[in-house]
Amino acid sequence: MTSVEPDREVEKRHAAEAAAELVEDSMTVGLGTGTTVAYLLPALARRALSIRCVATSPGTRQIAVELGLQVQAFSSDRLDLAIDGADQIAPDGWLVKGRGGAHTREKLVAAAADAFVVIADSSKPVGALHAPVPLEVLAFGAASTLARIGAARRRDDPLTPDGGVLADFTGEFEDPAVLAGMLDGTPGVVGHGLFPPDLVRTILVGRGGSVERIDLPQDR
Ligand code: A5P
Repeated sequence: MTSVEPDREVEKRHAAEAAAELVEDSMTVGLGTGTTVAYLLPALARRALSIRCVATSPGTRQIAVELGLQVQAFSSDRLDLAIDGADQIAPDGWLVKGRGGAHTREKLVAAAADAFVVIADSSKPVGALHAPVPLEVLAFGAASTLARIGAARRRDDPLTPDGGVLADFTGEFEDPAVLAGMLDGTPGVVGHGLFPPDLVRTILVGRGGSVERIDLPQDR
């Protein structure tokens, strides 16, 4: 019997379009970064709502502006909603983000939002999170910071818009909270791609022609 591979691009588009429907007039909306968010931006623009957006990367900002979305600096203390993709989604809601290197800004925007919505195709849910886990480290002393982490590899990428060095944690881990705690406590680590479940309100996963919606409990 032959199995047909799901069309990931269609799944991303469906998840992104479902997320665009969650946006309401007059909201402030955080816009993530990546190939799934690339489907969100036109879907949001088509709705022609009166919204103000904050972009997590120069690339997202440029596309959003070209589509006529109103993008402002991240100067407000709260956002109503943030929508972003993910690289891995664990069953308990932990995420790995940052293949595109925007994870530090993405986490700030997600943390400022009253609701953070994750959009993904069906390849992103995993049984357990695993390496690589994206890192951003301060350029000053970057080699020393990465050596202290040990299992880390610098990426051959340009510096982030904030001047950070991109790298990946490459080691094995079982508990993402333990790894996140270690990385948060390492001097020189500006940000990492482990996002805890208490940041996440809703996960929308495109599956074939439909969208699975997972709402995470908010009383943890
Ligand atoms: C950007 O730095 C990342 O966090 C992306 O949000 C994540 O890698 C998902 O990207 P795709 O939507 O391209 O899979």
